[in-house]
Amino acid sequence: MTHSAVFWALASTDDLPADLNWLSSEETTKLQQFKFPKRRNEWLLGRWVSKKVLMKAMPQISSIPLPQLSIKNEESGAPIALSNGSRLSGMLSLSHREDLATAAWTSQADLRIGIDLEKIEPRSTAFIQDFFTKAEAAQVFSQPSENQALAACLIWSGKEAILKALQTGLRIDTRQVEVAFTELVIKEEDWQPLQIVHSPSSAESQTLSWLLQPPYVITLAEIADCR
Ligand SMILES: CC(C)(COP(=O)(O)OP(=O)(O)OC[C@H]1O[C@@H](n2cnc3c(N)ncnc32)[C@H](O)[C@@H]1OP(=O)(O)O)[C@@H](O)C(=O)NCCC(=O)NCCS
Repeated sequence: MTHSAVFWALASTDDLPADLNWLSSEETTKLQQFKFPKRRNEWLLGRWVSKKVLMKAMPQISSIPLPQLSIKNEESGAPIALSNGSRLSGMLSLSHREDLATAAWTSQADLRIGIDLEKIEPRSTAFIQDFFTKAEAAQVFSQPSENQALAACLIWSGKEAILKALQTGLRIDTRQVEVAFTELVIKEEDWQPLQIVHSPSSAESQTLSWLLQPPYVITLAEIADCR
């Protein structure tokens, strides 16, 4: 599966420079406001992987000193990228979990994207009943027990990726999005498709795919023509 208009990157805390000279002045100020080390570290890694994906997507960005790039959040929480204070045209999405973060960028004006990183770990029946549709819960529970954590993780991550692409996040009922998979192929190299059974968007083209990065999965939602 290819994402011709979408660039993505992955980074771990080991990739972070020893100094913080790569942050913009706004980012340096924001960093000082975090009280909890976990949130501080995730936020920092999110900024690093976002700058990494911008450089990958736009070679001209590589010549800009990193402190002149800034990753901010809109009122909704959605991330935006600025270069010398001017917003770059396109859409950025990011996700962080523990020592890993991923970011995606597209410059394509009619495309909305959302990326999500989730750890494959058991989820309670109560969680699945509260946040999954009946069909999603049935699909998880019909899997052999050893695959149920992966199945639930994929569906949850797929929902979050779509809700990020739509920029609502978890402000709306997660059952407004329904995700399914046709078969659970456990291979690490390739992006594999997930089905969007329904979503709040009426866009012409909505695709969802996932990549296994044990013990995590990454999902990427691409929604075209819905602006
Ligand atoms: C977006 C959301 C689904 C992500 O949840 P998560 O699994 O805990 O965290 P992830 O690491 O996968 O993603 C976090 C990133 O999502 C992005 N994000 C936050 N809100 C977003 C939104 N409405 N749309 C798109 N992306 C959003 C941010 O870049 C955030 O990272 P950052 O704060 O370091 O910049 C969830 O945080 C949410 O619904 N947030 C909106 C509601 C809310 O509580 N807002 C608080 C005030 S901003």
